[in-house]
Amino acid sequence: MNRRHCLAWGAIGVGLPGWTGGVQTRASPLPGKLVIAHRGASALRPEHTLEAYARAIDDGADAIEPDLVSTRDGVLVARHENEISGTTNVADKPEFADRQATRLIDNVSTTGWFTEDFTLAELQTLRARERIPLNRPASTAFNDRFVVPTLQAVIDLAKAQTRETGRTIALYPEIKHPGYFRSIGLPLEKRLVDALHANGYQDRPAPVFIQSFEVASLKQIRLLTDLRTVQLLAGRGRPEDFRLAGDARTYADIGSAAGLREVAGYASGIGPDKNLVIPRTARNRLYTPTSLVADAHAVGLFVHPYTFRPENPFLPAELRRGVTASPSEQGDLAAEISAFLRAGIDGFFTDDPATGRAALDAFNRR
Ligand code: G3P
Ligand code: CA
Repeated sequence: MNRRHCLAWGAIGVGLPGWTGGVQTRASPLPGKLVIAHRGASALRPEHTLEAYARAIDDGADAIEPDLVSTRDGVLVARHENEISGTTNVADKPEFADRQATRLIDNVSTTGWFTEDFTLAELQTLRARERIPLNRPASTAFNDRFVVPTLQAVIDLAKAQTRETGRTIALYPEIKHPGYFRSIGLPLEKRLVDALHANGYQDRPAPVFIQSFEVASLKQIRLLTDLRTVQLLAGRGRPEDFRLAGDARTYADIGSAAGLREVAGYASGIGPDKNLVIPRTARNRLYTPTSLVADAHAVGLFVHPYTFRPENPFLPAELRRGVTASPSEQGDLAAEISAFLRAGIDGFFTDDPATGRAALDAFNRR
């Protein structure tokens, strides 16, 4: 049996056993380090569309990341936030003009159109749009063509592509605004876990990573499933559930050596803002890596930082190319990713999986 034709999903990260659960296929196991398609190949296609995920898989991603929110009728759909005017054509739909509203979402007053005010059938009359057209003008050619996919459609895609490519395509869902959705009677956690279990993703080695910035949400999920969970760490501030509970601890506290020991009690890994792994200097150049990777590994947590993007504004100053002030010209993303791989990370979220794949393959060939 060669590497591309073993029966288990296989190991990833820090010492995980092969999986022999309910979704077996003749696919290669997940590798030790993962290319995670952040919202799909979102540098190339409007984010969180089946087309963006499919392009990511074509480009060599090991995992696809749907951020998840809820419709009014309780269906989980892939959007980065529940306010959808920035990523769909909803504002141009006169039949939905009266749905515009102002809501307090995670303590931020937000005006727009919200997924929880739409049934799935209504939501699927909308079409996706490029979020950052100044950075990604080519992607706007795909505006108004693709639907907002359900979680089930994303799962179906991952399974179909696993069968077709012979590579295990992992799911990396993130629960968005869990406290808010709980407050309006549409809690997300159990629905996500139930959907994953129903699709055969039940055992710890299954190719699934459930992520959240909110600690309470992850701890609840840990009680519902053995699937792997990932504590996201923002570069500043504190989790929204901590704020609501009057807990003064910050993401910096969670990412400290002591904090990570607690994280290891309910999560398998961390997903830090990349600046927490390699900070920038005052001149916006890459600086010396912090101890975060070593501290996480010391307690058995893998480290998957976010987000690696190819356009100049997102890169450190020394890796920008061409017109360095251009919002859309691309710099040396592979060099940035390589620096992080040398710092010991176990995978990374990227908007450009093709470049991520090339950088990781080169790193593995050293
Ligand atoms: O989930 C990793 C990363 O995606 C977290 O940031 O805001 O892009 O969901 P965000
Ligand atoms: Ca995310």
